[in-house]
Amino acid sequence: MAVSKIILGVTGGIAAYKTPDLVRRLRERGAEVQVVMTRSAAEFVTATSLQAVSGRPVRENLWDSEAESAMGHIELARWADLVLIAPATAEFMSRLASGGAPDLLATLCLATEAPLVIAPAMNRVMWKNPAVQANRQVLEARGVRLLGPDSGNQACGEVGEGRMFEPAAIAAAVLGPATAGELLAGRKVMITAGPTREAIDPVRFISNRSSGKMAFALAEAAVAAGAEVVLISGPVDLATPAGVRRVDVESAEEMLEATHAEIAGTDIFIGAAAVADYGAAAVEQHKIKKSAAKMSIDLVRTPDILTSVAQLDDGPFTVGFAAETRNLEKYARSKLEKKNLDMIVANEVGRDRGFDRDDNAAEVFWAGGQQSFPTMSKKDLAVALLKLVADRFRDSSESGKRGKLHAVGSGD
Ligand code: PMT
Repeated sequence: MAVSKIILGVTGGIAAYKTPDLVRRLRERGAEVQVVMTRSAAEFVTATSLQAVSGRPVRENLWDSEAESAMGHIELARWADLVLIAPATAEFMSRLASGGAPDLLATLCLATEAPLVIAPAMNRVMWKNPAVQANRQVLEARGVRLLGPDSGNQACGEVGEGRMFEPAAIAAAVLGPATAGELLAGRKVMITAGPTREAIDPVRFISNRSSGKMAFALAEAAVAAGAEVVLISGPVDLATPAGVRRVDVESAEEMLEATHAEIAGTDIFIGAAAVADYGAAAVEQHKIKKSAAKMSIDLVRTPDILTSVAQLDDGPFTVGFAAETRNLEKYARSKLEKKNLDMIVANEVGRDRGFDRDDNAAEVFWAGGQQSFPTMSKKDLAVALLKLVADRFRDSSESGKRGKLHAVGSGD
């Protein structure tokens, strides 16, 4: 059923100050929005501002005879295609779970046949409280859809799970993205780029032909899709795309360190770097002199950055790349499984392919699916890949498997 009429229930949490923005974003997507506030919501946002952005008088009181004569609460409950509660406080979740109807909003929730979606927001300790979790389970078992809560800084000064999803993300979750620019709104995306250099002595290193073009194109596309983007880049000769926060590194060890220093709050991690697989077991302090006709260097494995991210508890949606010269699908699927990834982008590399070119082609694999992308510019491929990643990420977040919406801006 297409959703065009939404009751937005606003309850009394600090995140209520974001609801005018939420109304605006729902209306941008063509929805009619009727705001219904609880008494305590009025402590955080005014009915006047919500009326101005929704274009309809805000309903607050079950006993308002004038409003009831215009559209009674049962009529209003029938009118809605969707009831969205944002923010949903612990108190309101409890009211919903117990079936109480002491106010207009709770009454509407009981009287409607429309789907109910809630975006909880509260202090992290409250959210973890067994009573709140029990209410959450009851609501989910009854088919109520929960969006979040998110993790991050909270208005109380603590950091943890309990922030309301960002308005753009809520609107996108219930009505779909309004524009390509909102595909990853409110998300933090981290991308590794370029080659790494593993020193042998002060002037020599082991590296590869990666130019960073594929990863930089992904970073640019992620910014255009509305994400906050951190790009951890090995040595490349490329300008930083506008809006991207870039951290320069040289070796695999440095890339690992920079990645984990920045990983908190990351929703999507994309390992597009061509990390050198081996480095010298011991780096010579001085330039190695040529003397013997033959020499050998002991090599040891570098840390696997992608695997270390995929192994994190509650870590980001993790996308790897597979650069192969043969058996593309077989090797890519094996990396998908062994590295415990959510997705893998396989590309052929070698002479005239993949590395240091402006175009590329890819086969993407994930559990239960795959998609091919024919040769196109790396910029176009990046946009198409990001759309697929965002879709898969949204599906896995919604099915509760992983992925948390990232809260941007000063906290609630
Ligand atoms: O940079 P360009 O010139 O534009 O070229 C693009 C590209 C070909 C480099 C890019 O599209 C690509 O395929 N990047 C991954 C290259 C690679 O190292 O693939 P791999 O199959 O060896 O590694 C598999 C995955 O593990 C990759 O996501 C890699 O980033 C990651 N990895 C590998 C080794 C390691 N020590 N740490 C890692 O994180």
